[in-house]
Amino acid sequence: MTPNSSRPSGAMRAKPAPALTGTLKAPGDKSISHRAFILGALADGVTEVTGLLESDDVINSGRAASALGAGIEHLAPGRWRITGTGGRFATPEAALDFGNAGTGVRLMMGAVAGSGASADFIGDASLSSRPMRRVTDPLGEMGAVFTTTDGRLPAHLEGGPLTGIHYTPPIASAQVKSAILLAALGAQGTTVVHEPQITRDHTETMLKAFGVAIEVERDSAAATVRLTGPQTLTACPVDVPGDPSSAAFAIVAALIVPGSDLTLEGVMDNPARTGLIETLREMGADISLTPGPVMAGEKTMHLHVRHSQLTGITVPAERAASMIDEYPVLCVAAAYATGITHMPGLEELRAKESDRLAGSAALLRANGVPVKEGEDSLTVTGRGVGGVPGGGKTLTHHDHRLAMSGLVIGLGANAASSVDDVAMIATSYPDFFAHFTSLGATLEAIT
Ligand code: S3P
Repeated sequence: MTPNSSRPSGAMRAKPAPALTGTLKAPGDKSISHRAFILGALADGVTEVTGLLESDDVINSGRAASALGAGIEHLAPGRWRITGTGGRFATPEAALDFGNAGTGVRLMMGAVAGSGASADFIGDASLSSRPMRRVTDPLGEMGAVFTTTDGRLPAHLEGGPLTGIHYTPPIASAQVKSAILLAALGAQGTTVVHEPQITRDHTETMLKAFGVAIEVERDSAAATVRLTGPQTLTACPVDVPGDPSSAAFAIVAALIVPGSDLTLEGVMDNPARTGLIETLREMGADISLTPGPVMAGEKTMHLHVRHSQLTGITVPAERAASMIDEYPVLCVAAAYATGITHMPGLEELRAKESDRLAGSAALLRANGVPVKEGEDSLTVTGRGVGGVPGGGKTLTHHDHRLAMSGLVIGLGANAASSVDDVAMIATSYPDFFAHFTSLGATLEAIT
């Protein structure tokens, strides 16, 4: 393993920008990068990864994999070699620290439970305030013995045998589904996860690529996944596609700044992840797509985005799971639209790295954009291109997506916007500053 290099921290402002122009290669997908470390660590043999997102969250999954006995070698930027354990995780000496990463800790809880090892799980202040029973309850039904801190981290897992379960998650969550499927690999018998609402299916796709027999039945609304354990994974190469959730920031920035013309290469094109693009196009965004190569079993696309005057819409609640991480930046787009953008079905936003529903509303208010915050909805009254006052300071609450959204809103505003701390951006998009600067944005530290 190699540690991360230094990155910006502290308060920063984004100045109103001239046209944003250029071509970016989308950073590696965070969900797939976590899974590459976890599946590679479980597998028999050597997994070669290219295009891995070297963000703090993902590196923490790599460190945990290493502590559990996998060999983790950094070969070159984005290139890693994982020597798997064949499903036999060692009990680590120290607690596994996942930092800010919900995906890392929840998926690893499932993988470690399935391996039969014991472990302690910890995280930063934000992760330690997030709910873990959504994962420890179903894993407990399988026989895993977790002790949590009132349903949160720190948590301890005492290793033991598991048996398969039939489970319908009460919330739409790929993390919950994935934790159960990873545990099912080491459980006796068949596990069935029935999802009343479809969530990202990267775990299922990657498990198939690692040679696991897994059945997926899906219609347009629901999915059922079946896996019979125990099964061993066979190492296979992973070429990580670009992250639509990170690409979202440059897409929205180009849409709101007059004269912008942006090309984004290699963005994953999976319907469980592209709700934002569908929504922006319904709002009138000029985004054209051309197909790219298939990577890690996922289609990819190249996007051409041009500045557009957007119009507010109602975003269907059933679309929320396919754009769950994109609502803060959709709020920025809505600020620059004409008319009202109504976003219902957002209860899960309150359980993210921070309460993103409240945080997004505060970000808009601080920058002079009227917003109504409901229990599980946001309603934004757009100010139109040229009409967003800006000048506000966003409190990021250790939340990378609020930090990036709080900067992007300033790029098209009448006055610079600022955020209290940009350090968390490194958890998902360490190249954010380099990418935005290359497009012509001015992001400067406030001393
Ligand atoms: C993720 C699933 C989503 C998402 C997170 C990544 C994953 O969380 O918000 O950033 O990789 O499975 P939920 O499944 O809890 O909604």
